[in-house]
Amino acid sequence: MVLAIDIKQITKIFDNKVKALDGVELEVNAADVFALLGPNGSGKTTLMRILTTQFRPTSGNAYNFGIDLIRNDAEVRKMIGYVPQETSVWADITGFENLLIYSKIYGVPSGSRKKIISDALQSMGLEEPANDLVRKYSGGMVRRLEIACALMVKPKILFLDEPTLGLDPSARKAVWENLTIFKKEYGTTIFFNTHYMDEADHYSDKIAIIMKGKIVKCGTANDLKQSLRSEALQFGLNCNALDKTALTKIRALDFVRDVLFHDSELMVVIENERADTALPKVMEVLMMRGIQIERIAMARPTLDDVFLKYAGPITKIPECCHQIRGCGRQIRMCGHNDVKKN
Ligand SMILES: Nc1ncnc2c1ncn2[C@@H]1O[C@H](COP(=O)(O)OP(=O)(O)OP(=O)(O)O)[C@@H](O)[C@H]1O
Ligand SMILES: [Mg+2]
Repeated sequence: MVLAIDIKQITKIFDNKVKALDGVELEVNAADVFALLGPNGSGKTTLMRILTTQFRPTSGNAYNFGIDLIRNDAEVRKMIGYVPQETSVWADITGFENLLIYSKIYGVPSGSRKKIISDALQSMGLEEPANDLVRKYSGGMVRRLEIACALMVKPKILFLDEPTLGLDPSARKAVWENLTIFKKEYGTTIFFNTHYMDEADHYSDKIAIIMKGKIVKCGTANDLKQSLRSEALQFGLNCNALDKTALTKIRALDFVRDVLFHDSELMVVIENERADTALPKVMEVLMMRGIQIERIAMARPTLDDVFLKYAGPITKIPECCHQIRGCGRQIRMCGHNDVKKN
């Protein structure tokens, strides 16, 4: 299979001290949508800037469709489109005028500009407001205009750095619906950075997680979820601190793989199908120490859990949990999981 992107041991050190990328190895198949997830400062933008030939790596190499992006950067630039993390259109001119400027920058011949701009506007659903000033656009429209600018060259690979950052759910959906139609028509490979797990889950063929400049996990959303081979019991407690002995006791229980505590939320990661055995034992440890349990939740791994496992601490209970009232206690659990409530 042809690789759209082939990254070999890329390292980037800024100012001889900040190691932003540390031996990144990654392969992206042609015509795939590929999501790169990682916490702030993990190296996502730096990697994208290398892949779009804006930065040179300190060491290592990378190829876009077999073309060496260090030796043949001009060739690579001809086949890529790029939408940066920061705003890249002018607000005091119209959408059409923005596209016109970019068409000139990209060297689109004057005879074909009108048609190409019209196609790009149509691809992103922006025909109607094309002649309005961009300052009147919503955030979602601005982002779609930026993507339209990048689509004019019909790129083989489209790089999007946080394409839907700050947009509401319907604006995010509109961006992805338009992108999906474009991708289907032109077979474009899409490589995007994001903090939105749901987008990576819904729209990408493959996902990589980057942490401190290293790829810590890569695969399909399902591969990543299954790699945890676990479920999570989550407890809302009436205290903001748990002593070390309680944590050690829970960690030592059968089937418990991991225990995380943050801001009165305790997450106990257990082996698949072991909730019936593990739940009463964890509750016993907590109750023996006089800790009141306010909520219990049970969830199969989501991409959030995958991300938290490989790239960060527990911050929230997965949205799949809903509330059930029973036995004088509030219990939250997934509808499809069969956990005893008392
Ligand atoms: N031009 C630069 N000069 C010096 N250090 C830089 C430069 N660009 C990035 N860095 C550093 O490299 C590291 C990775 O930054 P990068 O912007 O790639 O992270 P990111 O994953 O895109 O973060 P975010 O999610 O916040 O956008 C950070 O420590 C950052 O401070
Ligand atoms: Mg970034």
